[in-house]
Amino acid sequence: MYRTHTCGELRIADNNKEVTLAGWVQTVRKFGAITFVDLRDRYGITQLLFGEKLNKVLEENPLGREFVLQATGKVNERSNKNANIPTGDIEINVSSFTILNKSAVPPFTIQDDTDGGDDLRMKYRFLDLRRNAVKKNLELRYAVNRAARNYLHSNGFMDIETPFLIKSTPEGARDFVVPSRMNPGQFYALPQSPQTFKQLLMVSGYDRYYQVVKCFRDEDLRADRQPEFTQIDCEMAFVEQEDILNMFEGMIKSIFKEVKGIDYTEKVERMTWEDAMWNYGNDKPDIRFSMKVLNLKKPASVYVNKADQSSLINGADFKVFDEAETVLAIAVPGCSEYSRKQTDELTEWVKRPQVGMKGLVFIKCLPAGQAGNADGTYKSSVDKFYSEERLKAIADAAGGKAGDLILILAGVEERTRKAISDLRMEMANRLGLRNDNEYKLLWVLDFPLFEYDEEGNRWVARHHPFTSPKPSDIETMISNDPVIHNAAEYLKHPYANIKANAYDMVLNGNEIGGGSIRIYQRELQEKMFAALGMDKEEQLHKFGFLLGAFEYGAPPHGGIAYGFDRLCAILGGSESIRDFIAFPKNNSGRDVMLDAPATIDEKQLRELQIKTDVTGD
Ligand code: AMO
Repeated sequence: MYRTHTCGELRIADNNKEVTLAGWVQTVRKFGAITFVDLRDRYGITQLLFGEKLNKVLEENPLGREFVLQATGKVNERSNKNANIPTGDIEINVSSFTILNKSAVPPFTIQDDTDGGDDLRMKYRFLDLRRNAVKKNLELRYAVNRAARNYLHSNGFMDIETPFLIKSTPEGARDFVVPSRMNPGQFYALPQSPQTFKQLLMVSGYDRYYQVVKCFRDEDLRADRQPEFTQIDCEMAFVEQEDILNMFEGMIKSIFKEVKGIDYTEKVERMTWEDAMWNYGNDKPDIRFSMKVLNLKKPASVYVNKADQSSLINGADFKVFDEAETVLAIAVPGCSEYSRKQTDELTEWVKRPQVGMKGLVFIKCLPAGQAGNADGTYKSSVDKFYSEERLKAIADAAGGKAGDLILILAGVEERTRKAISDLRMEMANRLGLRNDNEYKLLWVLDFPLFEYDEEGNRWVARHHPFTSPKPSDIETMISNDPVIHNAAEYLKHPYANIKANAYDMVLNGNEIGGGSIRIYQRELQEKMFAALGMDKEEQLHKFGFLLGAFEYGAPPHGGIAYGFDRLCAILGGSESIRDFIAFPKNNSGRDVMLDAPATIDEKQLRELQIKTDVTGD
């Protein structure tokens, strides 16, 4: 037997017990004739005491960091207790020990505040995983996994595996492909999600399915994206949107409870996609704070039922606003005292290429008493163009109060909308309004079914092509020709207004899950494919199996998939999902530990009948 206890287990109540521990040497401290060793394993750290006799043996067989050591001895009460660790009251008075394995000097210290940089830690990820900080993240990941499974199991969901070597699934990214040796010249695609399989399982009658499953997407990477990531993928038959929202609200709340001990009793807020875009400039707003966007000049494309406030800025001969496609503002609480230096710095911030604005207009809502003014006053970078009354009217419309700073951005539609939403988040960060320990869930509903693709002058599916339109919009979809005859006026096409029966779950400004009620009739699915520009032949080639299945009694169904890594990262208070994946890829999609991807040898290529014209090294 290698050990009787773990390194995190022994307490004062175990005093005098004879025990054997095994683990890694964290530190070795020599004090004259005795030596202390901190022994570490997954469960904790226990201090070992090597007395005079063993010390001599140690001198001949010196211990180094990360050596694997087995030690037997008696549990003793420590004279010098360490309140910082659970085993801090005791130590093991070692009577015999065995070095089970030596270790080379690790390239970085295995400690919370390690001296290892990102690249080095990724190269030696197996050592990085020994560190507490990373271990905690993996433990949290496992806890989330367990909580999700418990909930789904108790609600009758069945875990069913689906294949990885498949044909392309349209989730909007590029596929990773795998050549088939037995079918030369042909390729499998790795699933971007198990979407079509879970729908087929509904046709097969497995009316509550789930899977914690790897998905593969060849897309540009960011902190919250990996080329292979994990979804909690779910599907249900005989459900409407409301059933799905309730079921999965329940799952997230149950995860909160089990993993974080949080009772999220309030109903999850709901918002239409149009309201999200209008009030926050994006479709995954962080609603832990308000700071809503004022649409001074309405961007053309997304809002059907909204009226802007352009009268507030019109007629002042201020070209920047007059010529801009859109003008958007936010009221930042308590920042009216910003100095020239601070407003200049903010202007530089919005001018950075990542934000891409040409400038920033501000209005300071100075409270009474400030600037020697009795009633409060409005100072602005554009007071040459706008009277104080007009500045006040703009500030009021933005919800600005005395002491607030109104920030206004003007420019082309999409960039300006993104910029105001980035600025809103940035200001909230600066003001400490985004507290890691506060969780706020949101359902975003009623997404558009289609998105306009300018390059191809055609419609693409916003979610994926299996998403059903709202029942009230089905008629519009069936009875209209999808062709866009006038690209400049695509917004007037009836398809631009069709809403999807789709929903996203947002947590603290992150999209953690998304899904939809599906199309389950062959005719409507064919219409959908046709709307996306697929002719009959292509439809059959790509999705014949699904269209065929819909002819054999497909039940109404719908589902959702959660980004498991993202959920873990947010619950762990981190921006980066990499920290929550045991063996992640770097930003260029490389596994630096394996040094993958890599070239393969000529023989393998010949077997696969593949020729490459790149000679990689
Ligand atoms: P969707 O594409 O919205 O839906 O993905 C669901 C969730 O997965 C997460 N996610 C990612 N996480 C890490 N890295 C990535 N590259 C990545 N891409 C997506 C997000 C997202 O909300 N089949 C549909 C689901 C359905 O309709 O049921 C789908 O995959 O958190």
